[in-house]
Amino acid sequence: MKGKEYSVTKSRDLFNRAENLLPGGVNGNIKFRNPFPIFLSRASGSHIWDVDSNEYIDYNLSYGALILGHSHPVIVRALKDAIDNYGTLLFGNPNVSEIEFAELLLNIYYKDGRIRFTNSGMEATLLAVRLGVAYTGKRKVGKFDGHYHGANPLLLSNYRPTKGRDVKGKIVKEADSIEIQRDLLDSIVVLPFNDIEGTKEVLEREDVGTIILEPFEDGYIPANTDFMNFLRQYTKERGIVLIFDEVKTGFRVRIGGAVEYYSLRPDLICLGKIIGGGTPIGAVLGKTEIMELLDPRRENERRVFHSGTFNGNPLSMSLGIATVNELISGNNFLKIQRLSDELRKEISGVLSDLGISHRMYGEGGIVNYTLSDDVIKTYRDISKKNMENRKKIDSMLTGMGVYLIPGSRFSMSIAHSESDISETVASIKVAVKRLLDRNEL
Ligand SMILES: Cc1ncc(COP(=O)(O)O)c(C=O)c1O
Repeated sequence: MKGKEYSVTKSRDLFNRAENLLPGGVNGNIKFRNPFPIFLSRASGSHIWDVDSNEYIDYNLSYGALILGHSHPVIVRALKDAIDNYGTLLFGNPNVSEIEFAELLLNIYYKDGRIRFTNSGMEATLLAVRLGVAYTGKRKVGKFDGHYHGANPLLLSNYRPTKGRDVKGKIVKEADSIEIQRDLLDSIVVLPFNDIEGTKEVLEREDVGTIILEPFEDGYIPANTDFMNFLRQYTKERGIVLIFDEVKTGFRVRIGGAVEYYSLRPDLICLGKIIGGGTPIGAVLGKTEIMELLDPRRENERRVFHSGTFNGNPLSMSLGIATVNELISGNNFLKIQRLSDELRKEISGVLSDLGISHRMYGEGGIVNYTLSDDVIKTYRDISKKNMENRKKIDSMLTGMGVYLIPGSRFSMSIAHSESDISETVASIKVAVKRLLDRNEL
């Protein structure tokens, strides 16, 4: 158990340097921490080290991407094999690894469907929506309040809006980035998550052709089964293209993601993160009739153009294949699920012992909790105070060697161990007690 808080002076020095080169010292808005992020220098398995030689148990795992942990032997081998076998990391022309990975993913997620690889989750969500618009000929896209689909301007509204609801109790549409102007926002229809009547009411008014959602909001707040069944049924009856954004949930809530969890087949699925085995990747897969719009042999007026220098590169394909094969072999996914169940149970036990109201969330390899026993249906149900308290606990944990994004979910990997879990839970106990003693919770 760690009681002493870490010193991070070298991280601060690097941040001072970075800040004069990179806006805010980072390469992505979500990578900033106040007053500065820690700079990492090394990783192995479930552990990471910062430039001040502090060691952490890593539950961020690069925002959930590294389900095998850091430098897993199958990944190291696949990396070496890729360069040995191919003699390059980039062909620019088709390569057999694209076929092998396509077969593997389609077999799990969309038998008889088609797939197109991209280089990020954001590119995948953008492409999926473009396909939906092209297929239906309808420009309006439904996205759910509170759902994140990457830094893609079309879908970058109402992720974490600052405005509440209007006088009639309706969610107010709000861009998350200042360059997003009226004309783009006009094509977006914001829908209330886990609210059948509210969603129906908006959809009856708006001529929406495509709907995208995170089946688990923020990776951990589940869509109610009734809500998912309603959405699938409603969209099917009206010819609306339904997209599951499984960039977080793919290979994480189940091997077959939310598609397997809910036993539902959307029209398109977006994957990312885990399927790159640590390299940049994204993928859109789904119904052949829609995906075939990408076929370059189609005449221009019947074709969706999409391309990318790095799409389907043999490095990402090889590491992705190695990751998926490792996950589906033996009881590996089950092991991740068991470790997550254990962490959920242990955190709940500690919080109960300390008299802290809470509720546990998460499926498969995702663990999370809220500091209230009320059931939440969307992020809006978490009070500001409870979120602030949760962030206080997590920030204190960072200083004690347990790393996750404050207020966010724990991502589990095959590399985590029972002793990681005991250490994590012991640290949570110390952090919560300390905050209680200071009257800060
Ligand atoms: C649900 C979801 N969709 C899309 C994205 C964007 O993926 P990327 O960061 O690879 O662009 C993310 C990233 O966190 C995500 O969680």
